[in-house]
Amino acid sequence: MSIQIAATVEEVRSKVKEWRKEGLSVGLVPTMGYLHEGHGSLIAKSVEQNDRTVVSVFVNPTQFGPNEDLEAYPRDLERDAAFCQSLGADLIFHPEPQEMYRPGFCTHVNMDILTETLCGASRPVHFGGVCTVCSKLFNIVGPDRAYFGQKDAQQLAIIRRMVEDMNMDLEIVGCPIVREEDGLAKSSRNTYLSEEERKAALVLSKSIFLGQKMVEEGETQAAAVKKAMTDLIKAEPLARIDYVEAVNGLTMQPIETISSPALIAIAVYIGKTRLIDNFIV
Ligand code: PAF
Repeated sequence: MSIQIAATVEEVRSKVKEWRKEGLSVGLVPTMGYLHEGHGSLIAKSVEQNDRTVVSVFVNPTQFGPNEDLEAYPRDLERDAAFCQSLGADLIFHPEPQEMYRPGFCTHVNMDILTETLCGASRPVHFGGVCTVCSKLFNIVGPDRAYFGQKDAQQLAIIRRMVEDMNMDLEIVGCPIVREEDGLAKSSRNTYLSEEERKAALVLSKSIFLGQKMVEEGETQAAAVKKAMTDLIKAEPLARIDYVEAVNGLTMQPIETISSPALIAIAVYIGKTRLIDNFIV
């Protein structure tokens, strides 16, 4: 039997209600689809930790700015469904935008401070859209746990903060970055890269590994680490830096001295494709 796909809020709620009646625990993996092994690690973790796993597949329009890649974002539900099933997930929630944002929709979840740096500085509407859709998904599914990747480290910190601030009754589980064999962090957006750009994109993980090595060897000055990483990226002609930053891992505010919890994060355009990567201290 193939995995069940629910398109409406009502269908998801009634399925989860059945599971709850049986006393089963529920994990949620929020995604925008076009799933890869990074998502796979989240789904596998949820399947391991919960009796039932829901994967949401929804390209959320409210987290894209006007000139971003909402239309171009890759989609393949059939492939995603087979992937989820192979990992033991139980239900896919795949709503249309009008199911999530009904006529008259005008309630938004916004956050200060953590959303103002890094990706939030270059994508001003992004995290409001993420907080809004994740709040909705948490309310619709009502999971015990929800799973997010460390690759989107700022998103993970923001979701944790939102859950804490709004007293949401679920646990947020962060999972490590999954990389290609050559080091590039897995991302649905890697599919945008031409062959030449794919090679150039390696500069992201190379700079992350360089920064990480410097910190492991005792460098504590953020400026020194950022400069070495920046110089390495600038040597790649197809790369254009959006940011190379060192921030406090909880508040996302810039730091001068690297000490735990710290996040060293980068966003780099390779051609037109914006890619991110990071390491945590
Ligand atoms: O990380 C993503 O894919 C998205 O931002 C999320 C969490 C599914 C919300 O749309």
